[in-house]
Amino acid sequence: MISAVATRVEVIKWMEDFVSETTAEFLKTVEDSWQPTDLLPLSTVDNFFDEIKALRERARDLSYDLLAVLVGDTITEEALPTYESWFMKIKGMPNSEQSPWTKWIRGWTAEENRHGDVLNRYLYLSGRVNMREMEASTQFLIADVFDLMTDDDPFRSFIYTRYQETATNISHRRVAQIAKKQGDTILAKLCGHVAADEARHAKAYKSFVSKIFEVDANEMMLAFEDMMRKKIVMPAHYMREMGVDMGKTFGHFTDAAQRIGVYTSVDYTDILESLIVEWKIDAMTGLNEAGERARDYVMALPDRLKRVAGRMRVPELEYKFRWID
Ligand SMILES: [Fe+2]
Ligand SMILES: [Fe+2]
Repeated sequence: MISAVATRVEVIKWMEDFVSETTAEFLKTVEDSWQPTDLLPLSTVDNFFDEIKALRERARDLSYDLLAVLVGDTITEEALPTYESWFMKIKGMPNSEQSPWTKWIRGWTAEENRHGDVLNRYLYLSGRVNMREMEASTQFLIADVFDLMTDDDPFRSFIYTRYQETATNISHRRVAQIAKKQGDTILAKLCGHVAADEARHAKAYKSFVSKIFEVDANEMMLAFEDMMRKKIVMPAHYMREMGVDMGKTFGHFTDAAQRIGVYTSVDYTDILESLIVEWKIDAMTGLNEAGERARDYVMALPDRLKRVAGRMRVPELEYKFRWID
């Protein structure tokens, strides 16, 4: 056990064994992992071209908004392995290859790398996307700075990743459902596999936060409140197309996601409500006055967000993305 007023560095150090266990429980070994090749036509077999033809026929009926969401998701996933550098900057992270934290971040981003690969390859084969424009957006997103507003604080960062992993789980799962309805079973299966990975990642980050609540409830609560006040921004909020201002494309991408119900403001509130239950926020003890105020803010937030969501209109305006000809 560590002292009641531990520093972030001490908490991170104290969590090392726990992080090892979490890695073993929630990340898969390479041997046990699916690979993009398992889910797409094999280029080494004779009927490759027949399979591609069938894939393109199925992809022909995918709606414009679904395609736009898929491209935005792909760009987001393609940039994710670069989060390793963001994660290693978090206060207290040891600069050591042998640290359980280093192993966690490498294992996590290595899993994520497959997401961008499989989505990218599918879109390339589908023939529905202007790949050059999509690739340019990916290069922009990786090169542009991004600010997740976590201040390099581990407590805030894990709230962020816990939120994001669930948001991506929801959106990939919904894309899978819509793809299935629109007759594309390959795409449905592939997005289902990605969604399942995100669910495991969400559980891991949930456990990181739970562990910190055990040892430093007050500071964890303040971090939770702070992130909710700032509002969790999507990791790709600076997404742009060539010739379009930074962040503008992102707004059109989220509009498309709202329109087809892949990820909405209702989902944002639902995630918050599930976190309140998950971490038993209402019954949290050991808080000082500021901590109690933070808890009250978080507890009252879902109702406030629901009132605002009720007044919000889903944007109707169709946007012509450069990604789709
Ligand atoms: Fe992912
Ligand atoms: Fe993930």
